[in-house]
Amino acid sequence: MPYPIPGRRVTSVVRGIAAIALLILVVAAAGAVIQRWPLDPDTSISADLEGNPDRGAYLARMSGCIGCHTTTEDGAAALAGGPPLETPFGTFYAPNITPDERHGIGLWTLVDFDRALRHGASPDGEPYYPAFPYAFYAKLNDQDVADLWAALWTVPPVAEPSSAHRLSWPFNQRAGIKLWRALYFEADPFVPDPSESDLWNRGRFIVTGPAHCGACHTPRNLFGARDHEQHFLGAHDLPGGHNSPSIRSSDLQSAGWTDRDIAFALRTGLTPDGDTLGGSMGEVIRDSTSWLSDSDLEAIASYLLHDNTGPVE
Ligand code: HEC
Ligand code: HEC
Repeated sequence: MPYPIPGRRVTSVVRGIAAIALLILVVAAAGAVIQRWPLDPDTSISADLEGNPDRGAYLARMSGCIGCHTTTEDGAAALAGGPPLETPFGTFYAPNITPDERHGIGLWTLVDFDRALRHGASPDGEPYYPAFPYAFYAKLNDQDVADLWAALWTVPPVAEPSSAHRLSWPFNQRAGIKLWRALYFEADPFVPDPSESDLWNRGRFIVTGPAHCGACHTPRNLFGARDHEQHFLGAHDLPGGHNSPSIRSSDLQSAGWTDRDIAFALRTGLTPDGDTLGGSMGEVIRDSTSWLSDSDLEAIASYLLHDNTGPVE
């Protein structure tokens, strides 16, 4: 059932109700049991799979790892921890993921990394908040994960602790995410659609997988899960308070976008009207899409403009 996208004032009331509802759910599901139930997802990856760091660095750009995990201060060390990510649930800080043994992930294995990236589970079996877009990264294949892992090891270790998240109660109860996961998280791999072109399928992989465009362009329900009925229709209340427009093919087409315009906008931030895409989209372009190859931008445009309402992810 679609529901209208609430305005800002309505949303804060709705969020309050959501908080209470979430709490009731958590209590009802017997908090104590959930607390002691470590996650143990199956991983397909083989521990000695060799990664290609150059391919991994490109994928890290496409996936936005650098933007979220690096502050914007001048001279900030890459991947040593990100700027505040403000959401209706509180402020998240993407942690230090440099190879530092104490403050980063220097003691992790490729298998630990895969469990975090595609399954949202920490080496101790704790769930990660979906502010870390692992539901999208589940579409990466084993080689992609190994390549990203190889790229992370080319970054200098930084001995700086990560900032703690500042979340309001009850969202600061990490165990509650286990329930959220049971309701909303599926580690779905990418399955190409054989009736479409390779270019379109490549675009669909990028958009619905690593580039996680739906994280901002699909509205969320009261519990912060994407509302698949409203896939790509645009969202309110994004981190930093931005709103995003619809990127459904029909809406982009009726607004007059062409494949070339989309590729050009994702490379430069400039729209056909001479406007600049700003807010969080400006950051996505600066940190991610402007780094992509011409053929990948063409693939994204092909998927966006030609029937992206198909199988919903
Ligand atoms: C939208 C922001 C965002 C993006 C993009 C993002 N992350 Fe994160 N990441 C986070 C947040 C927030 C957390 C902390 C989650 C938590 O505490 O539950 C996190 C946690 C992690 C962790 C767990 C670290 C630990 O110490 O437990 C790893 C590993 C990680 N991210 C790797 C990556 C990689 C690799 C990419 C790109 C493929 C990436 N992240 C992209 C926000 C992001
Ligand atoms: C972090 C949030 C975020 C992510 C991730 C994101 N977008 Fe956006 N996007 C926005 C916002 C906000 C705007 C509105 C920008 C403005 O009006 O200046 C926007 C605008 C756009 C527009 C312009 C549409 C129009 O009609 O004006 C396009 C096209 C677009 N995004 C495509 C994408 C694609 C493709 C991806 C994935 C590669 C993506 N976005 C990922 C937040 C995001």
